[in-house]
Amino acid sequence: MKGLFITGTDTGVGKTWVTGALARALRRKGYDVGVCKPIQSGNLKDDPTGDAMTLRRLAGVLDSISDICLCALPQPVAPQLAMRLSEVDIYMEDVVSFCRRASNRHEWVFVEGAGGVAVPYLSDAWVSDVIRVLDLPVLIVARPGLGTVNHSILTIEYLRNQDIRVVGVVFNRGSDPCTENDTDSRLAALLEETNASYIRESTGVPVFGSLPHIPSYAYEPNIVSIVEENVDIPGLLESLGSVYSGY
Ligand SMILES: Nc1ncnc2c1ncn2[C@@H]1O[C@H](COP(=O)(O)OP(=O)(O)OP(=O)(O)O)[C@@H](O)[C@H]1O
Ligand SMILES: [Mg+2]
Repeated sequence: MKGLFITGTDTGVGKTWVTGALARALRRKGYDVGVCKPIQSGNLKDDPTGDAMTLRRLAGVLDSISDICLCALPQPVAPQLAMRLSEVDIYMEDVVSFCRRASNRHEWVFVEGAGGVAVPYLSDAWVSDVIRVLDLPVLIVARPGLGTVNHSILTIEYLRNQDIRVVGVVFNRGSDPCTENDTDSRLAALLEETNASYIRESTGVPVFGSLPHIPSYAYEPNIVSIVEENVDIPGLLESLGSVYSGY
């Protein structure tokens, strides 16, 4: 199975938006990329504001929603607890076969996790256990501003301690409040650039760029150019190429 596992430094950092936008940009370049959100909590599968439907729309894939999401649970809590509350059990083998089926439909599969890496996820596994068994390299989505150096480096080290390969970090500006003030936006840009250098220098992991806020009217026509102007797609492809060079 070839692809990426997309995790984040926290819940709400922009995993869904970055996954969907990157998948769309790569699909436009001719890569057959599918998207999955195996377990979703807080929205039912076909809720248009939920992750599975958002991924489908942003990536522009035509897979059925049940091929994108294995299990959706209504309570907005960590998946393991949401399963317990709904009296549902989903095990590692269920998620692994679900993702393998996605890889039979697409050459590349981008799998979005839930929350971050140290998260109780399935009835018998946490997020990092699933990443290890799927044997996918990881892309980390992080906030660009204050706090991200700490969160990003802790996430990278946690994954490395479990022998999981990290290909890079993408910052997401989308959920941060945007500022109209020039001084503040200059400071934000300096902070972002400095944060990327700290992460790179301390861990050797590249930061491929920052996804800006994508206004809803811009999704369809402009999402690819927004991604290409702000994220180093060739760098990401090169990192993926080095992971899969034996294929
Ligand atoms: N680049 C963006 N452009 C526009 N809106 C964005 C962007 N990134 C995030 N958002 C907004 O922020 C919210 C949180 O982002 P997102 O759902 O991608 O986070 P997440 O890390 O996937 O969260 P979860 O842990 O719940 O899966 C989205 O619902 C969306 O409204
Ligand atoms: Mg999400």
